[in-house]
Amino acid sequence: MDDLKVYLSKRQTLFNDHVTQQVESATSSDTLKQAMAYSITVGGKRLRPILLLASYEAFGGKVDSALQVAAALEMIHTYSLIHDDLPAMDNDDFRRGEPTNHKVYGEATAILAGDGLLTYSFELIANDSGLTNEQKVYVIRELSNASGPNGMVAGQLLDMEAENKESTLEELEQIHSLKTGKLLQFAVKIGAYLGGADEEQLRQMKKFGYYLGLIFQVQDDILDVTGDEARIGKPVGSDETNFKSTYPKLLGLDGAKRQKDHYHQLAINALETAGVEGSTLRELTDYLGNRDY
Ligand code: IPE
Ligand code: IPE
Ligand code: MG
Ligand code: MG
Ligand code: MG
Repeated sequence: MDDLKVYLSKRQTLFNDHVTQQVESATSSDTLKQAMAYSITVGGKRLRPILLLASYEAFGGKVDSALQVAAALEMIHTYSLIHDDLPAMDNDDFRRGEPTNHKVYGEATAILAGDGLLTYSFELIANDSGLTNEQKVYVIRELSNASGPNGMVAGQLLDMEAENKESTLEELEQIHSLKTGKLLQFAVKIGAYLGGADEEQLRQMKKFGYYLGLIFQVQDDILDVTGDEARIGKPVGSDETNFKSTYPKLLGLDGAKRQKDHYHQLAINALETAGVEGSTLRELTDYLGNRDY
């Protein structure tokens, strides 16, 4: 575990340096740059970029060449958080231990900062000199699918529609796999793709990412009930306030934990079939399901 902590911290530093540089050159508008930089540099665990890099390494890649795609992914994730916190959505005041973007810059600028991060991420990939044109098209197609109306955006809509309702387990799986799972799936699948995985391995990594996404969001739901606000850097009890459909609400805390263990087993099975169970991805999977922030 201590080894993993050191690994995470090294990767975070490497990634933070890169993403900070990228956002610096994103725009000539000072206000927009500040608002974008505020959310992207303010913290965050960086789990999506770290998963992408770990997957890339598991298939033989050398970390530096995947940093740009990892930055693009984190920009999309950060945009989704800025919009998720808006008064019209979850209406939350804290994120990553600081006031939310709209609390600092106002709603209109926060919306535009999110829009800026979203679009700039695709520009970053298109300008990545380390990728072939074929790789660029592949990565852009996968990232737009994962984040757009067949991915995260659809999940956020379903999440809203499920407020004040009793969702079934199948419905929850659909919401969580779209709103959270799709970006995690992108991370591990694209890392594998850039590292040269074959078709069957890509299929397994997609499956691995699917269960990883569910594990991740079930733990997020659990932390919304049992987490320490100072540690998680965002409000506890937001889901209850917003009448969200969550795993703890449907299954109770123990039931949610059991369901998470079930997904964990399926995730590890896929990792084994892909032949990379000996990589850091294995430890990251254990960590994601048991994280306390
Ligand atoms: C929070 O994601 C939003 C979800 C999809 C559950 P993270 O828990 O990865 O948040 P950061 O990036 O560390 O702030
Ligand atoms: C949101 O899920 C996932 C996104 C696509 C941003 P949550 O609303 O549960 O995320 P948190 O708890 O605010 O980070
Ligand atoms: Mg939300
Ligand atoms: Mg939220
Ligand atoms: Mg949450």
